[in-house]
Amino acid sequence: MPTESARVVIDLDLPGPTISRHLYGHFAEHLGRCIYGGFWVGEDSPIPNVGGIRSDVVEALRALRIPNLRWPGGCFADDYHWRDGIGPRDQRPRMVNSHWGDVVEDNSFGTHEFMALCELLGTDAYVSGNVGSGSVQEMSEWIEYLTRADDSPMAALRRENGRDEPWKVPFFGIGNEAWGCGGNLRVEQFASLARQYSTYVRNHAGNEVYRIAAGASDHDYNWTEVLMKSFGPLDGADGPAGPFQGISLHYYTMTGPWDDKGDATSFTEDEWYVALSRAAHMDELLTRHGQVMDRYDPHKRVGLVVDEWGTWWNVEPGTNPGFLYQQNTLRDALVASVHFDAFHRHADRVVMANIAQTVNVLQAMILTDPDTGALVLTPTYHVFAMNTPHHDARSLAAHVIAPEASRKVEGKALPLLSVSASSKGATAHVSLSNLDAAQERTVVLDLRGRDIAGFSAQVLTAAELNSHNTPEHPEAVAPRKLDGVRRHPRGLEVDLPAHSYATVALELGADD
Ligand code: AHR
Repeated sequence: MPTESARVVIDLDLPGPTISRHLYGHFAEHLGRCIYGGFWVGEDSPIPNVGGIRSDVVEALRALRIPNLRWPGGCFADDYHWRDGIGPRDQRPRMVNSHWGDVVEDNSFGTHEFMALCELLGTDAYVSGNVGSGSVQEMSEWIEYLTRADDSPMAALRRENGRDEPWKVPFFGIGNEAWGCGGNLRVEQFASLARQYSTYVRNHAGNEVYRIAAGASDHDYNWTEVLMKSFGPLDGADGPAGPFQGISLHYYTMTGPWDDKGDATSFTEDEWYVALSRAAHMDELLTRHGQVMDRYDPHKRVGLVVDEWGTWWNVEPGTNPGFLYQQNTLRDALVASVHFDAFHRHADRVVMANIAQTVNVLQAMILTDPDTGALVLTPTYHVFAMNTPHHDARSLAAHVIAPEASRKVEGKALPLLSVSASSKGATAHVSLSNLDAAQERTVVLDLRGRDIAGFSAQVLTAAELNSHNTPEHPEAVAPRKLDGVRRHPRGLEVDLPAHSYATVALELGADD
């Protein structure tokens, strides 16, 4: 029997801030099998490819309408020297990827290959620049190489390497995790460097760059505060901030300590709840980093960019510990849906987010088999697919009112229903996550302000909390139609299976 109803009040005629599609961004680092084997197989591979880029991966990601792709790192970005990755592939210098497996990187995937990938995906490039071991000149020349149209030295070099037209690069990262792998810098030191490096990431040929300075980890509110102070007065409402426009935040979900983060597929019911409670902590982080930013920037001219988030488990047994390859279960799917609810609620400040990482690394959308090349779409992939209607829609406040079931997890109350909603034109979408491991739940959607002309719903769930997809069982966790939705005097009533994520699509009628 479903447990007693929860009621969710949504005012359909009071749309809030726009949920940027860039909240659904992705991240591809030179790490393990993300680039090599994941995106890039090389032109001579038996795996179908376009200029070396896997066609099946591109096709799967195009269906998600991924808005931007961050590259080349992560920690790798602060070791990366872009000139090593241009020109004839067989003449490119090699380097050691010291962060990730200590393997030799042959630079066969570089700037031109990344930009070709973005073009195939139809996505915006988010290039992450090297502050930790790179020079201001190197960063300045990279943006010139990428985006300048005339016969400047870097534009001419790009042409020599086969690309006439400049590319568009809307997003550029100024360092990564500068407090750690990006140089072990103190925040005051990095704030000065961020101002300096950003100044030389110039807008060429009408390419307007949004510069994102490496921000805090987790609850390091002081890092955010010092970066915000470095702007100087931001009390006017107009124009983009400068010299950088956004600051980042990184937060990963795990159930154990750093040296034993928890297993991806073998976990207890308690660990299910710990993971979801720690995922729900993203909301508090956004609130508190946002409060710090509000003190310096009341008009929200500076964006918060969560450019690394997701689950980080122990690697799959038998795989290289430096490659961060992990399975992905229904639990990961709900970690993602809870994050999206938080991003939607904070859409006025959070302008962009990037899950770590797209293929074969951490909380991936796609896993590929290193031997057979077989491709599997993960439960997390399906959450991204089900969320596409929220892209660039207007956020709607969704108030969960009593009785709101919750569970004490690590001393904090975890609400067992996570909700968010948005509207666009004559449609609205509601996301509902039932975090209860065992109990189904009936939810009343108290829909105010507009008539409901029609509705449909989808659900993602599975028999087990740790159900996951494999080449043998690629659809063990896949969305299906949700039949348990019916009209109710207040709007709609929805039966949510235990441990499930559902989206309800509404066709809006007249104002009521
Ligand atoms: O995503 C894996 C790593 O996590 C990134 O390289 C780094 O920025 C973070 O610590």
